[in-house]
Amino acid sequence: MDGRVTTYLITGGCGFIGSNFILRLLREHPQARVINLDKLTYAGNQDNLREVADDEGYRFVRGDICDGALVEDLMHEADYVVNFAAESHVDRSLMAGDEFIRTEVYGTYTLLEAARRSPKLKRFLHLSTDEVYGQVGERQASVETDPFRPRSPYSASKVGAEMQCVAFVETYGLPVVIARPANNVGPRQHIEKFVPLCATNALMDEPLPIYGDGRQVRDWLYVEDNCEALDLLLHEGEPGGAYNVGAGNQRYNIEVAELVLDILGKPRNLIHFVEDRAGHDRRYCVNFDKIRALGWSPRHGFAEAIEKAVRWYTDSRWWWEKVREGEFQQYYREQYGKRLAEARPYAAGPRP
Ligand code: NAD
Ligand code: DAU
Repeated sequence: MDGRVTTYLITGGCGFIGSNFILRLLREHPQARVINLDKLTYAGNQDNLREVADDEGYRFVRGDICDGALVEDLMHEADYVVNFAAESHVDRSLMAGDEFIRTEVYGTYTLLEAARRSPKLKRFLHLSTDEVYGQVGERQASVETDPFRPRSPYSASKVGAEMQCVAFVETYGLPVVIARPANNVGPRQHIEKFVPLCATNALMDEPLPIYGDGRQVRDWLYVEDNCEALDLLLHEGEPGGAYNVGAGNQRYNIEVAELVLDILGKPRNLIHFVEDRAGHDRRYCVNFDKIRALGWSPRHGFAEAIEKAVRWYTDSRWWWEKVREGEFQQYYREQYGKRLAEARPYAAGPRP
């Protein structure tokens, strides 16, 4: 008898946020038993959880959230579910959107369908995104009741998943809580994403590709702050409710790249302006008063969040050098080859 009494079914736990969340669960909740269901796509990485791989409270199941029979089986054991599984990179959704729709919409539906028949499920936390609101104007901040205006195949797939959640709340009274976080940053994020890409390219003295004029705005949320918020929502979020999770750390992309270079002591001329992302959302900004009212607030400011993330990549070459060697090479050539060949150098480029 191991004394662990609460079972958490986590999907997509080998990815960035999911792995940070599982580490938190096992650390903060001694009664937790974690089942991690992950398909191990290019983004799933078992190195992310190697420190708990042999923990008696942790079980890894390789599988697809679209597999109804497997999901039904695992769901029977679950007190809580957190659905992180997704295709998460906007640029890849512009190359091929099929897997985004399949995992987000059909996969989320499959989980919800099993959840409604589950004997003891207390809450189902679904990971959505601030991108469901689409881009917002200069002084605007999205509130939870705002309409959805997704503009990429990725964000449209996230809206599709949310709509399935709403249907199961309305139809079956399923206790689903939805989280809509801003851009996370921190340890174990795939190097295709902006901050890890800037950090690892800078460490190798390779160019940092900045889309368009670099004046798009994102809100940078440290992943451990997000995981703390998710833990709270999982246990205390209002069933049927949606919650924005922001940090108040809005910055231009170019400022982020400059800070990464400064932290690493690398020259600014590594920055290269390249062809923009198609349909690139200009600015995201969420109002997060609703989760603040539950007692959560972010602990990391902008500079601290970026610095901690960059330091992790400096200290974890073993982790990202392996990732760089794999399928990433072909992706990188396809995504950046022509762009970098036609890039505008930093000095001649636009300044914020
Ligand atoms: P990630 O790409 O790092 O990880 C996704 C994980 O899901 C991987 O381990 C992958 O193997 C797994 N997966 C994919 N398809 C699957 C399937 N069909 N069945 C089972 N597992 C599957 O993603 P992330 O950045 O950790 O994001 C996690 C969630 O949070 C996603 O839903 C994403 O949309 C959302 N989100 C992310 C951010 C961010 O900044 N990273 C912000 C807001 C919301
Ligand atoms: O806002 C939440 C979302 O944040 C999540 O839902 C997504 O899963 C997550 O990937 C992230 O999406 P973004 O598209 O904002 O993240 P990304 O790291 O790809 O890009 C951040 C910004 O940097 C964006 O404005 C595009 C820009 N960028 C990105 C890359 C990869 C560049 O300028 N150059 C690049 O090479």
